[in-house]
Amino acid sequence: MLSNKSFWKIFRKVPIHKRKKMLFSRKYLYKEEALYLYPNKKTAELADVFVEAATGVFCLPLGISTGFLIDGSTFHIPMATEEASVIISSSYAAHIIAHNGGFNTIAAKPITQGQIIMEKVNKHYHTLPQQDINLLTDIIRKNSSKMEKRGGGLQKILWRHIKEDLYSLDVFFDVQDVMGANFMNSILEILRSVLEAKSKGKCLLAVVSNEGIHRHYRSSFSIPLHKLSLVGTSGYETARRIIRASHIAHIDSARAVTHNKGIMNGITAFAIATGNDSRAIEATVHAYASQSGKYQGLGTYSIEDNFLNASIDIPLFFASKGGSTDHPTARWSRKILSLYTNISITASILGTIAACVGLAQNFAALLALTGEGIQKGHLPLHKKKILLSEEERQE
Ligand code: MEV
Repeated sequence: MLSNKSFWKIFRKVPIHKRKKMLFSRKYLYKEEALYLYPNKKTAELADVFVEAATGVFCLPLGISTGFLIDGSTFHIPMATEEASVIISSSYAAHIIAHNGGFNTIAAKPITQGQIIMEKVNKHYHTLPQQDINLLTDIIRKNSSKMEKRGGGLQKILWRHIKEDLYSLDVFFDVQDVMGANFMNSILEILRSVLEAKSKGKCLLAVVSNEGIHRHYRSSFSIPLHKLSLVGTSGYETARRIIRASHIAHIDSARAVTHNKGIMNGITAFAIATGNDSRAIEATVHAYASQSGKYQGLGTYSIEDNFLNASIDIPLFFASKGGSTDHPTARWSRKILSLYTNISITASILGTIAACVGLAQNFAALLALTGEGIQKGHLPLHKKKILLSEEERQE
């Protein structure tokens, strides 16, 4: 019998099917539990390819939020989430918006930023000499020829004083359809020794930045006020209450956090379904929401010429190639997105769709919250979930 310590030491080193056997042997896993962790051999093996020390999979429900009319094309949007109402409520909002002209969008170039943070930099190196800019540019170009062939490449480099002896070399790249984190990290690691030699400073760290200042997506829609009238409430009153609620999210951080959580309900679910890095996307959006120094709600609503206008402008890092976007389920999600349209599902299109999903989710939440309340619409599914867990407990 292995000691606990040896058990876990070996556990880390063996392939996933052996890990499963080890868990069974100690009764740390029963057959009924294994059905959920290892739905089939392929899924388990894939988990082992994707992450180190995989012990199974955690399956999330995957659904399709239908009917998003975006710049004249209709998209049906895969979303992976455990929250009962997310898919249906975004689809509900998308249908209202589609009946009134749909979403209009503006996409940014897919720029990814990396930084080399240097310490112990001498004051003489306060500005980056032109010959050093040229040298760094040459090295970057030599190491990014493939990216240039795909239409991307270096956009600019900046030398920024942080404080005291600390500086940041900011490198901006058009990474096309990949997220660019691995690519960026490799380039930065090549540059760090050159920068050390030139500045006589020391590299503290070099890594991609998820700030996303150059990666904004805008989505907007307009609805005539008379289309917003509900039983007992005029369209104007519905719009007024939505505008008031979104204004509160701008001035009250307790409300702003929940307001933005609702937006991210949609964006994160879409990010997971398309194999994107949802943590990076969330960090970028929340950082942007606090850029004024106070955490604020995203999205704006106004009334103009008897229309309710809504828009959102957010930085988003989406990729359509590389990394986890190669997962078979993510590939299937892109296939669903490309149904009935000739538009190729690039990183830019994914960012554009994500901005629309976020806005639809927000509109659905505000409509429900300022109308009959959020619980009414959600209750049936919540009940189903409660029933499911009670049945399981009795088994
Ligand atoms: C629930 O997951 C999301 C909402 O709370 C968002 C909001 O309050 O705006 C409904």
